[in-house]
Amino acid sequence: MRRDGNAGSPSPLVRGLLVVAALLAVTGGMARAQPAAPGPVDLELGKKLYRANCAGCHKWHGNGGGGYGGDALSLRHTTLDRDQIITTIGCGRPGTGMPYHLRDAYEGDEKKCYGLGQKDLSPGMVLAANAFLRQSEIGVIADYVLARVKGRGEPGYDDCLEFFGAGSRVCNIFKSPVEGGPAAPPPGK
Ligand code: HEC
Repeated sequence: MRRDGNAGSPSPLVRGLLVVAALLAVTGGMARAQPAAPGPVDLELGKKLYRANCAGCHKWHGNGGGGYGGDALSLRHTTLDRDQIITTIGCGRPGTGMPYHLRDAYEGDEKKCYGLGQKDLSPGMVLAANAFLRQSEIGVIADYVLARVKGRGEPGYDDCLEFFGAGSRVCNIFKSPVEGGPAAPPPGK
């Protein structure tokens, strides 16, 4: 089911700006899950943010695998719901390689992440992301994961084209295997 192909809507740029404006108005930077923003889900923005912030560990297809942060769990097989995904992105997962993406996740006395503050955590117990995200961006990524990654089975040619764009040669490895050669590993991103 594709939800992003609505013909006759404003250009992607206009749509993106509208979504950003709406999200800025709705969110207050809290780690607690926000209700779904009204209006269509912006899967293109979600994909862009996912690609920049998550694919390094979870891979483009979400199945994750080994990396410097340990084994990133599969987002295709995850059983987490939207709120739980949002919490995991914002707060990370202490004691694992999943970093937190909200700048102030563990700052101050609010303890909005698992009831933990900086003083409750030993150094290095929870990792900060390379780049922090806004709460609104985290919601957009969660919607992308729910629409395009979670529960989608094993990744194939169509998933690959959906991610990299029609005609992407990086996806050719998903076509029928090359005769005589060993199967190439799927692209990392
Ligand atoms: C530095 C590597 C790294 C990055 C970047 C990263 N993750 Fe993770 N992620 C992990 C690891 C490792 C785990 C496994 C944690 C564990 O063992 O419980 C994980 C777990 C998760 C889980 C929990 C899955 C489950 O079923 O319990 C979700 C959801 C998740 N990541 C989403 C994301 C999203 C979305 C992004 C991008 C905003 C992201 N992660 C960025 C490494 C990463």
